[in-house]
Amino acid sequence: MTNPFSIAGKTILVTGATSGIGRATALLCAHMDAHVLAFGRDPQRLDSLLAEMPGEGHRVFSLDLTSPEQWPSVIASLPVIDAFAACAGVASMAPFSFVTREELERVMDTNCFGPVMLVQQLLKAKKLAKGGSVVFVSSVDGPRIVHAGNSLYSASKSALVGMARNMAIDLAGKKIRVNCVLPGTTDTPMIRTGSADEQQLAETAAHLPMKRFADPGEIANAIVFLLSDAASYVNGTELVVDGGTSII
Ligand SMILES: NC(=O)c1ccc[n+]([C@@H]2O[C@H](COP(=O)([O-])OP(=O)(O)OC[C@H]3O[C@@H](n4cnc5c(N)ncnc54)[C@H](OP(=O)(O)O)[C@@H]3O)[C@@H](O)[C@H]2O)c1
Repeated sequence: MTNPFSIAGKTILVTGATSGIGRATALLCAHMDAHVLAFGRDPQRLDSLLAEMPGEGHRVFSLDLTSPEQWPSVIASLPVIDAFAACAGVASMAPFSFVTREELERVMDTNCFGPVMLVQQLLKAKKLAKGGSVVFVSSVDGPRIVHAGNSLYSASKSALVGMARNMAIDLAGKKIRVNCVLPGTTDTPMIRTGSADEQQLAETAAHLPMKRFADPGEIANAIVFLLSDAASYVNGTELVVDGGTSII
């Protein structure tokens, strides 16, 4: 009997592979004998990831999700991929009164328009295989819960879920599944981009049901499940991985 959880031999594109959840996903895929196409912006961190990934057939690509004019040449150089984990994203905190259209566009471009249009470009270039799987990393922030000052980020992550649910129907005929993972707060560099210091982060974690943030590897586990054939009838759903935060 073949193991449906295996992703061995699959070619998997991972955005945001230079840091946090994307990096953990790329490493898990490599450890599970998949071929990883790792996307990021920082060439040095892409090279260090490449050196760390076990196995063969991995490649790294520098690509900015807010610069679609860069994409055609990168896409043309890709092999056909079996699965796409869209992990790249940015945080942005501002009280609503201070939200600017420019910042809204930057956040929407990176967190929603970029990953969604990248899927469309891959389809147009016939680089996404039939039977493939797309996993967008959204967040519980927006689709499930809200925090003061987080409207930009929440909007982008809610829009991503809405788009993914519709893509799941539109692409079902091509036998491509589309799902979202909704992480709770995860211990990555992203949570240190705001004003909270280590003590404030520890206090926040202590108030969560499991008294800790997620480890990026725990989010990667959920992403890889949805990428795998074990999730072959899972389509258009949101897998919440937040230690119970959004149910209290
Ligand atoms: N950490 C959390 O608490 C949490 C919770 C829920 C959801 N999420 C979501 O999980 C995903 C990963 O977050 P993380 O915590 O792992 O963040 P992270 O450690 O800050 O990593 C963000 C990644 O996104 C890439 N990126 C940012 N802007 C980009 C752009 N314009 N074009 C291409 N790549 C870009 C970065 O690439 P470079 O470094 O190379 O620029 C980096 O690899 C994000 O979508 C985030 O919204 C995170």
